[in-house]
Amino acid sequence: MEKIVIEGGNRLIGEVSVSGAKNAILPLMAASILVDGWNVIRNVPSLRDIKTFRDLLLHIGCEVDEDPEEKTIRIRAHEITSFEAPYEMVKTMRASILVLGPLVSRFRRARVSLPGGCAIGTRPVDVHLMGLKKIGCDVTLEHGYINVKADRLIGTRIYLDIPSVTGTENLMLAGVHAEGVTVIENAAMEPEVVFLAESLNRMGAQIRGAGTDTITIEGVRELHPAEHTVIPDRIEAGTFMIATAMTRGNVLIKNCPLEYLDSLNLKLKEAGVDVRAENSGVRVIGDYPLRSVDIKTLPYPGFPTDMQAQMMAMMTISSGLSVITETVFENRFMHVGELKRMGADIIINGNCAIVKGVERLSGAPLMATDLRASASLVLAGLVADGVTEVSRIYHLDRGYENIEKKLSGLGARIKRINSE
Ligand code: UD1
Repeated sequence: MEKIVIEGGNRLIGEVSVSGAKNAILPLMAASILVDGWNVIRNVPSLRDIKTFRDLLLHIGCEVDEDPEEKTIRIRAHEITSFEAPYEMVKTMRASILVLGPLVSRFRRARVSLPGGCAIGTRPVDVHLMGLKKIGCDVTLEHGYINVKADRLIGTRIYLDIPSVTGTENLMLAGVHAEGVTVIENAAMEPEVVFLAESLNRMGAQIRGAGTDTITIEGVRELHPAEHTVIPDRIEAGTFMIATAMTRGNVLIKNCPLEYLDSLNLKLKEAGVDVRAENSGVRVIGDYPLRSVDIKTLPYPGFPTDMQAQMMAMMTISSGLSVITETVFENRFMHVGELKRMGADIIINGNCAIVKGVERLSGAPLMATDLRASASLVLAGLVADGVTEVSRIYHLDRGYENIEKKLSGLGARIKRINSE
């Protein structure tokens, strides 16, 4: 088992570059199922979730050609031999549900294991299934699997009870070949949803309104493969911004999509962090004492739930009281117990965490519980006294490319060790 070992106390100084967004790549990999030829995706980082999705595509019969040097993946769905996402794969990555839309769209059938609970809540998929039923699919649940069949897909208006991100993406993927017009109301507005719509349009789809709460999809008969360059990962960028602020560093973050990070940017400024857009990137200077701010997670453009744990790590060492309210996921405070083991002062009351800033954190052995929680523990380790060891870092590898190399390049004392 690998661990990350951090000796805290160094300021982060220098330049770092943000990788392509995992949550933009996975839906685009799924979209490749819609076409027969080679779909080309550029700016693809080396991440565990992307490998899991590649394995799923291989499992259903896609050809996948990877060039890690060029950071490119080519996918061809010429001969699909299976229409099933098995339990073993869905349980390691819930985003596997994204194959449902394109399989139904192109082949009128799919069988996907029902995702169960996960560390951050029960996370149902009712929004996905309701939408598919609305456009004419027959959806049944049997033996832990979702079976979807359709003779015809017919465009209609779909209202989402919750603006689910992958739910919106799945319905866009399903709607591209529906007859007539599909309208998704109360759609997710995340930048990754917009990127998927633009990518599908590049492949010949007719999608309008992505980035607003109403997305209109005019069904087309056929799509064609295309080349896509993935947008930068706003969550990775935000994690570096917070790391810089916490260590009182001075870092130029290249490929930093500040336009997708408004809510974080405003909160960082309120907390006393200097964030400047420069020609070659975004400079973050954390020279000032940090002040506590309140956070409430919301769907985009609200404060991202995927930044909540990292922001909480920052609040543990900011002066004053911070109230952090998690409204997107029901159980996303798994990092709190670990941060408290480092001396953080946090009380949980329902979906609120009340954080009172302390003078310093002290390094400790810690256990990562989910992807973003792991990042928050690494951030805490960067400023803690002494040594912090984070185990179960496979969570971190799901979504951060070479995080220890990127941080050590900025002067952090951080390394990955094999603990056996
Ligand atoms: C996506 C992101 C994830 C991020 C999350 C919220 C990907 C691959 N993952 O996950 O990193 O944390 O958005 O920004 O893009 N819900 C239902 N029924 C449904 C679907 C969702 O009740 O059918 C609930 C969920 O339990 C959760 C909330 O809606 O409480 C938001 O979930 P959703 O937007 O679907 O998250 P994901 O798309 O799974």
